[in-house]
Amino acid sequence: MSVNSGSGFVSLVSSGPGDPELLTIRAAARLRDADVILYDDLSSGPILDQAGPQAELIAVGKRAGRPSARQEHVNALLIEHARAGHRVVRLKSGDAGIFGRLEEEIIALREAGIGFEIVPGVPSAVAAAAAAQIPLTRRLTARRLQFLTGADVTGALPADINWAAIADPAVTTVVFMGQRSFPKLAQGLIDHGLPGDTPALFAEAVSHPHQRLIRTTVEKLAAMLADAPISQPALILYGPLAHGKDD
Ligand SMILES: C[S@@+](CC[C@H](N)C(=O)[O-])C[C@H]1O[C@@H](n2cnc3c(N)ncnc32)[C@H](O)[C@@H]1O
Repeated sequence: MSVNSGSGFVSLVSSGPGDPELLTIRAAARLRDADVILYDDLSSGPILDQAGPQAELIAVGKRAGRPSARQEHVNALLIEHARAGHRVVRLKSGDAGIFGRLEEEIIALREAGIGFEIVPGVPSAVAAAAAAQIPLTRRLTARRLQFLTGADVTGALPADINWAAIADPAVTTVVFMGQRSFPKLAQGLIDHGLPGDTPALFAEAVSHPHQRLIRTTVEKLAAMLADAPISQPALILYGPLAHGKDD
């Protein structure tokens, strides 16, 4: 696919979980050719070494501030740089379409009449399973795979959880952004019939040099996270496949 360089164009690029080797060839090409790269915290680090020397790098993640107006601010920057005729990359961690607020940016670009493309990538959940050497599905005992967020807009456990779905023992469930709320989530799961000894995998900083994988159970992980400080992004996988050999 070629990029329209005449009138400005936005590539919504997925960075994968953090290791530059997990970028797609297309993502690396867009980074190399970009005039401007707006990136999130989780897609910074060595990924940005793929950018060309001409690129202006703009941090727009949480650490860049503006908590309340952040999304509107990012939308405005995308539009401003595209209208200036730049090749703009909006870099998002994992796959941009998973808990990445992609829709807000698509709507803003469409409304502004700016051409864009979406470059898919490796979701952190998929990279976590690969790092732990487990599949995400299995015939008969894990025929469904579900991704959920453990945090609503306020950071709390969402109030409208479909407990029957997420307490289903024959499913692989992956919780994003769930470290803080997992003790509460786990109690709800157990109350809705999921055995406390269901295998669970805690996957922190997947594909980064300080990656940490802990294989445990839903009940024990809830106890572990109840007083654990949070410093790294992490996922929680639970279900019949979330075990394997210890590291
Ligand atoms: C805003 S969501 C973005 C998810 C991303 N679009 C994806 O497909 O992986 C951020 C959450 O994704 C998870 N995450 C992203 N990168 C990760 C990594 N390298 N290791 C572990 N979890 C990660 C964490 O749960 C983190 O809080």
